[in-house]
Amino acid sequence: MRGILVANSTELPVCPRPDLKVSRNANGADVVIAGLAEGSQGPVVQGLAPRAVKEAEETFGAPLAEVAIRAGGSTTLGSTVVLPWSGYSLVLVGCGTEGLDGEDLRKAAGAGARAAAALSHGTPLKVAVDMGINSAEQVRIAAEGALLGCYKVPAVTSNHDGPEVSTVTIVSNARGAKPELDKARILADAVYTARDWVDAPANLLYPKTFATSAQSWCKDLKDVTVEVLDEKALVRGGFGGILAVGGGSARSPRLVRVEYAPEGATTTLALVGKGITFDSGGLNIKTADGMYTMKCDMGGAAAVLAAVGAIARLGLNVRVIAYGCLAENMPSGSAWRPSDVVTIYGGKTVENGNSDAEGRIVMADGLARACEDEPDFLVDIATLTGACMVALGNHTAGVMTSGAQAADTLLDASEAAGEDFWELPITAEVRDALHSDVADVKSTAAREGGAMYAAAFLQSCVTPGLDWAHLDIAGPAYNNAKPHDYIPIQGTGFGVRTLVQLAANLAD
Ligand code: BES
Ligand code: MN
Ligand code: ZN
Repeated sequence: MRGILVANSTELPVCPRPDLKVSRNANGADVVIAGLAEGSQGPVVQGLAPRAVKEAEETFGAPLAEVAIRAGGSTTLGSTVVLPWSGYSLVLVGCGTEGLDGEDLRKAAGAGARAAAALSHGTPLKVAVDMGINSAEQVRIAAEGALLGCYKVPAVTSNHDGPEVSTVTIVSNARGAKPELDKARILADAVYTARDWVDAPANLLYPKTFATSAQSWCKDLKDVTVEVLDEKALVRGGFGGILAVGGGSARSPRLVRVEYAPEGATTTLALVGKGITFDSGGLNIKTADGMYTMKCDMGGAAAVLAAVGAIARLGLNVRVIAYGCLAENMPSGSAWRPSDVVTIYGGKTVENGNSDAEGRIVMADGLARACEDEPDFLVDIATLTGACMVALGNHTAGVMTSGAQAADTLLDASEAAGEDFWELPITAEVRDALHSDVADVKSTAAREGGAMYAAAFLQSCVTPGLDWAHLDIAGPAYNNAKPHDYIPIQGTGFGVRTLVQLAANLAD
């Protein structure tokens, strides 16, 4: 297993990245993935060279689609069946109706790749995606789905596992596929990086090691500068929110700032991510059950830091500044208390309504700092509220904005990227409820409508008039159930694709 050196002999586990190629045929593959679509006269195979279909039909003595259905396959999007025969395995993945495109293609390629990777049993496999891919854009989308589908949570083991998939080949003779393939590789690498960070257990990934790993992800990139504020620098700068939340932990907090400033860019995008490396709830301690998944609470910071690296690698002509607000929320003799009054960067004071509402406090510092950069668009992303999860489930993130223009900008990007968002309001009643008798503002109010209270609090830290979108990814950042499509268990890397697409849309 490869690892990023983070501190002395401590390495963060990482999932190996498969190589990515495009080819006119599937020759030499160990596993070939083709589609099974609903045609006008029943199921039909999509992709696969006529010679391969003929060979298969001779082997099985029946039309291939019929064989696949009999073996348990279906045309339902993302369902898979494996047909083993001489030379290689064939994975047939359900594609719905004929003419697969966009997010459905990404999902089908991902499901196929996941089924292919499961055939590895210790041998690295060469996997070909042969699904009738005609355009360069389809090559990119299929490559994204297939690479993302190969991801496996890296276990920390004494016997080092090799990769399950060594090469992904997209079978197509589309013109102009090469640059699209490069885009897919860069994007998938960023999503893998975000997943590696989320999956890393919190005893290995904490503010200092996360910051070091982010530095190495952004090292030697053109037009990129990385700045890490340690505890002393945070005190000097007046980052009272991050210091308060991180104060209960033996592992001191950090603020990571990554700036990508290509010459001539006229638009600035600022990104702020919640980076709680473990959320115990602090003195408002969580239940045992509620704590197990809380290594995921830095998924927002993982998304912004991974995204800025991809944006720089893609060479997009837009200035992007990403902030990771990193702290561990722990109960201890030095922990911040419920009812404490905390001074945020820039001087605003906050009454702590609940030490388990820590995300908004570190984000307050990050947002206030990001506003000083005078961005044209400001996005924050956080695993912020259980309430958002209750409202929208595990596949859809909440989005709350400064107004319709910001919402449109964000939703255009997320739709093109294939990530699911739903807009929630920030009502006037909610804003009024954050009144404090002892500070400028209180961090919490009622339980009902919890996602809106968090958003209203964050909005009070943003310069009025600035285009701003708040993304609550508490649900989709972490998959605690079964893998599906291109989504593995644990960290999903949710948000990376939307943020990269947003930067592409804002670029000149
Ligand atoms: N990190 C949690 C939110 C969360 C819960 C993310 C479950 C992913 C899965 C956040 O810090 C939190 O504890 N929020 C509280 C806020 C409340 C105390 C006002 C919540 O949502 O219950
Ligand atoms: Mn919390
Ligand atoms: Zn949290």
